[in-house]
Amino acid sequence: MGPEARLRPAWAEIDLAALEANAALVRALVAPAALCAVVKADGYGHGAVAAARAALAGGATWLAVALVEEGLALRRAGVDAPVMVLSEAPQGALAPALDAGLTLTVYSDAALDAVERVAAACRRAAAVQVKLDTGLHRVGASPAVADRLVRRLAAGETPRLAGVWTHLAFGATPNHPFNAEQVGRLCAFVDQLRADGIDPGLVHAANSGAALLPFARLDLVRAGLALYGYSPVGAEDAGPYSGLRPVLSLKAYASAAMRREAGEACSYGLLRPLPTAATVLTVPLGYADGVPWRLFPAAVPVLVGGERRPLAGAVTMDQLLVDAGDLPTSVGSEVVLLGHQGGGAIWADEWAEMLGTIPYEVLCAIGGRVPRVEVGLEDPEPAPAPPEVAAPSLGSRGAPGARSARPHAGSRGAS
Ligand SMILES: Cc1ncc(COP(=O)(O)O)c(C=O)c1O
Repeated sequence: MGPEARLRPAWAEIDLAALEANAALVRALVAPAALCAVVKADGYGHGAVAAARAALAGGATWLAVALVEEGLALRRAGVDAPVMVLSEAPQGALAPALDAGLTLTVYSDAALDAVERVAAACRRAAAVQVKLDTGLHRVGASPAVADRLVRRLAAGETPRLAGVWTHLAFGATPNHPFNAEQVGRLCAFVDQLRADGIDPGLVHAANSGAALLPFARLDLVRAGLALYGYSPVGAEDAGPYSGLRPVLSLKAYASAAMRREAGEACSYGLLRPLPTAATVLTVPLGYADGVPWRLFPAAVPVLVGGERRPLAGAVTMDQLLVDAGDLPTSVGSEVVLLGHQGGGAIWADEWAEMLGTIPYEVLCAIGGRVPRVEVGLEDPEPAPAPPEVAAPSLGSRGAPGARSARPHAGSRGAS
């Protein structure tokens, strides 16, 4: 995080010790299968480089990204672990991908033609995995096309066949019978290759959810969500995943605190008259930061002083408003949107349930303009300083029990 980013009194705290522990938990669960940490979409919003390093420290030996650009960013940061690109790369991206030693995925003849051409032109070795469509019907080669691709690769010098894999339609529902059907199709495909003397390389199918299924683990498990601390299955079935720890917290210091009367309303549309007189905190985070507008209609609370408090009105682009009631709050009070504070906690899976979405979307949406503060390392970055205010910006009536703005102990101490 650059020094200017710390000027913003709002941040996402990334607990890298939790990420490392989550990776170790998944790795222990799936061993002897290897662990591939899925760090696409900027590590599901956590910061791809930091997430990759923590996952590797926890026992991952592979990384996966969606885009060549994402793989190159890892290389630029000095991450030299094997990286696979999960989709076919556009032709223009092949040369940099091969230069960076990324493992490519193909599922069409055209894509393999292009890899062959570029590898020959650049005189680069190319490692290629073939993705088989076993029923998700998103991207992937039909068994006939995959068979042709694999045999082309097996016969050639370069590119080299490095793996055969698939992706599951019900990976988030491990008990669904279609998982066994898809894994069965993949295994039948590679069994035939082996019978024909072709080494398929790494064979893999499972994401975080399917990692719970021993038959789906094969050579390698591609886990994303579990590394970021969320179980893909409900708490009642979480089993081995009950020890996961959420990694990302979203916090801010109140930028204003105004005492309001019962019946007064705040923010666009003046949608919610205050049921009682209250201190209303302005929080410098909005939907441009990935805090969804739907938070208010869905009645998602935030944490203030360790208590769950409702939003006072609509989330706006850069700010939201919290009904802090009679809690002793002021400018500089810490507000936790995701994370824990005092005895309270609210995490992305609760948001997802209340918003009718999935934790993946909540996490990936946390915007690029929210600084990430890494904690849990031996030498953690300091949390942002609270805003400096000349005088508390309380309404003229003042808030009951309100303190003036004070130096803040830092987000870690408060949570
Ligand atoms: C091909 C592929 N494999 C693995 C994953 C990781 O899934 P999860 O986050 O559920 O572990 C994803 C995520 O979208 C994916 O697209």
